[in-house]
Amino acid sequence: MGRLEAKIAVVTGAASGIGAACVRRFADEGARVFGIDTSEARAAGAFGWGRLDVRDEDAIARTLAEVARAHGRIDVLVNAAGVAGGGPVHLLDAAAWDRVLDVNLKGTFLACKHALAHMLAQQPIDAERGSIVNLASIEGLEGTAGGSAYNASKGGVVLLTKNLAIDYGRRGIRANAICPGFVETPMLEGVLGGEAMRAVRDEIRREHKLRRFGRPEEIAAVACFLASSDASFVSGQAIAVDGGFTAGRDPGVTALMGL
Ligand SMILES: NC(=O)c1ccc[n+]([C@@H]2O[C@H](COP(=O)([O-])OP(=O)(O)OC[C@H]3O[C@@H](n4cnc5c(N)ncnc54)[C@H](O)[C@@H]3O)[C@@H](O)[C@H]2O)c1
Repeated sequence: MGRLEAKIAVVTGAASGIGAACVRRFADEGARVFGIDTSEARAAGAFGWGRLDVRDEDAIARTLAEVARAHGRIDVLVNAAGVAGGGPVHLLDAAAWDRVLDVNLKGTFLACKHALAHMLAQQPIDAERGSIVNLASIEGLEGTAGGSAYNASKGGVVLLTKNLAIDYGRRGIRANAICPGFVETPMLEGVLGGEAMRAVRDEIRREHKLRRFGRPEEIAAVACFLASSDASFVSGQAIAVDGGFTAGRDPGVTALMGL
């Protein structure tokens, strides 16, 4: 029996990268997964698909109501829709700032808002009405050069998640954030791909103490845990899944000792 047997899950940003990996893993674990994305590229394992923009409140509300009506409930929401973007603040257009904040933070808020309406109304199963998993980032836990809009959006997702845990815990709803390190997806390729970024890419890879980037499946594994009853006492956490990136600095002292 799978860890998410018979659960109804909604995943945003489901067409690519981490969201698509969540769809596959959740389906393998027995969930029925409804994917949401601006793209039509339906992820393997999805039983339903909504092509919409998470910034569109009417579309989000309508789609989540349809999922709840068709399947009786929404047990799990994973917010993986996101965009990269930022730069030094004095060079950053307000429109670029708005786009990143609107997709990453407001989109997460809107999906949570309209999933919560259904989670609150449904009967608990094993004392739980629902589980929300938001994709933040290690860039929501600490600063990075040129991070600006992206880091602000992900820092916002971390605190939004903690507040959800506080406000809805008494109603049997858990909320957690995953803070991935750098993960090999089209988003990472878009930011760090190309010859000009090679040195930066190598330096960032080295900051992960495992000396490699993550794989989408490694983030989906933690999302699966957080969505499942194995995490029944885990709420309000921002969990770094980062190959040791945020463990601390490594200036190479132990390398001199043969490690
Ligand atoms: N890849 C990384 O290194 C990394 C690290 C930390 C956090 N994250 C976060 O994980 C999440 C997934 O990232 P990824 O690397 O898989 O990216 P990705 O670009 O591979 O996938 C993101 C998906 O979100 C969709 N999307 C974008 N804007 C949308 C919108 N307005 N409405 C609906 N769908 C939209 C895209 O179409 C795409 O399918 C994002 O929130 C990202 O910020 C990624």
